[in-house]
Amino acid sequence: MTILLLGSGGREHALAWKLSQSKHCSKLFIAPGNTGTAQCGINMPFVVTDFEAIRQCCLDNEIDMVIIGPEEPLVKGLVDYLKTELDPELLLIGPSKEAAQLEGSKAYAKAFMQRHNIPTAAYQEFTKENFADGVAYLQQHALPIVLKADGLAAGKGVIISQSREEALAEFEAMIRQAKFGEASQRVVVEEFLSGIELSVFVLTDGRNYLLLPEAKDYKRIGEGDTGLNTGGMGAVSPVPFADDAFMQKVISKVVEPTIRGLEIDNLDYKGFVFFGLIKVGDEPYVIEYNCRMGDPETEVVIPRIKNDLVELLEATAKGALTNLSIEKDPRFATTIVAVSGGYPEDFQKGFEIKGLEASTADGIVFHAGTKAADGKIVTSGGRVLCATALAESLQEALAKSKAQLQQIDFEKMYYRTDIGYEFVQEKP
Ligand code: AMP
Ligand code: GLY
Repeated sequence: MTILLLGSGGREHALAWKLSQSKHCSKLFIAPGNTGTAQCGINMPFVVTDFEAIRQCCLDNEIDMVIIGPEEPLVKGLVDYLKTELDPELLLIGPSKEAAQLEGSKAYAKAFMQRHNIPTAAYQEFTKENFADGVAYLQQHALPIVLKADGLAAGKGVIISQSREEALAEFEAMIRQAKFGEASQRVVVEEFLSGIELSVFVLTDGRNYLLLPEAKDYKRIGEGDTGLNTGGMGAVSPVPFADDAFMQKVISKVVEPTIRGLEIDNLDYKGFVFFGLIKVGDEPYVIEYNCRMGDPETEVVIPRIKNDLVELLEATAKGALTNLSIEKDPRFATTIVAVSGGYPEDFQKGFEIKGLEASTADGIVFHAGTKAADGKIVTSGGRVLCATALAESLQEALAKSKAQLQQIDFEKMYYRTDIGYEFVQEKP
């Protein structure tokens, strides 16, 4: 089978790495990819939102399956476009434009959860039409208050306010001053939930599903979960507090009602569902849905899946996800992300990355923001590399991830040394 994978991050390198090991994958293209994906297949020079270039690439290379890594092309309707403009039978991993609203619109996702009795924080939604009602709602709301831009805002659209004054000012900035552009024309105001977060993933064909290994990611730039939010500084899998009893609740209260909801609402969804969950007491609540895999979670989830990934994805795309089961590696997987100094604020790019060849003995270094220049590999983004390792214990896996990064160097390289800190006795 000839496969086209869209995206350019650590997630896509992990997917490309796994796809290229499949006996069913005869040729793999990645667009636009990075220097890591170039080791697994052929990088193509177009971006994930260039629908016409994607269609042309499928025609020129007789692509059988397209796997869509990031959310933007999904929310913009790439799946519908390829079905109508190319081939209704093309195998596609990713939901339709309508179903991708589960990530593309917080209000859509909240209404879906409410309709299907899926546990989530209580909420109300507001626009400029009912702005005054929003102000009145905020004035009587318990603190802290969670404000969410409805649309995609590159992970920045959520504000948690400790004071009513701040919440009112942010609410006004979002709706009246378009703080997040079109994305904040509508704002979801929701109850604050206090608990510990985890990410749960399934592959679904819209009727059946397979539960993948769960993970926990670390979003803040600083040690001890301090400082600004980032795209993700590391991840671990399995998650020690996600025991069988809790995961059974996740399945019966969240996953199964969601899949039934897709069916009831007649949504065309063939791909990954990412449940951003929070454990409050012993109960799971949905913070958000994403219509794709997580990054950096993929870098620990994929290495723990022993199945042939192409077999799983083919069954998903064909709506035949029955009689299959996930074979998990029982070991712990960890990934630590090396970022450019200054990230998530301003940072420089173009620094040579040294020591990559020495770093692979005990794990896998997935590339994220890397590119080739003058025969060298240089930094080209905020998140640069993800050092993944597997071991019998979390402590050991973390030590291996860190040892890999100790072999690598680029100017102003930074990584957190405390990933997984709540689950280990001492830092590796
Ligand atoms: P989201 O973009 O929806 O994933 O939200 C970003 C982050 O904000 C989440 O990962 C949580 O840490 C936090 N968050 C979102 N909604 C809530 C909530 N209702 N209660 C507490 N924290 C929240
Ligand atoms: N790790 C969170 C995300 O991929 O959105």
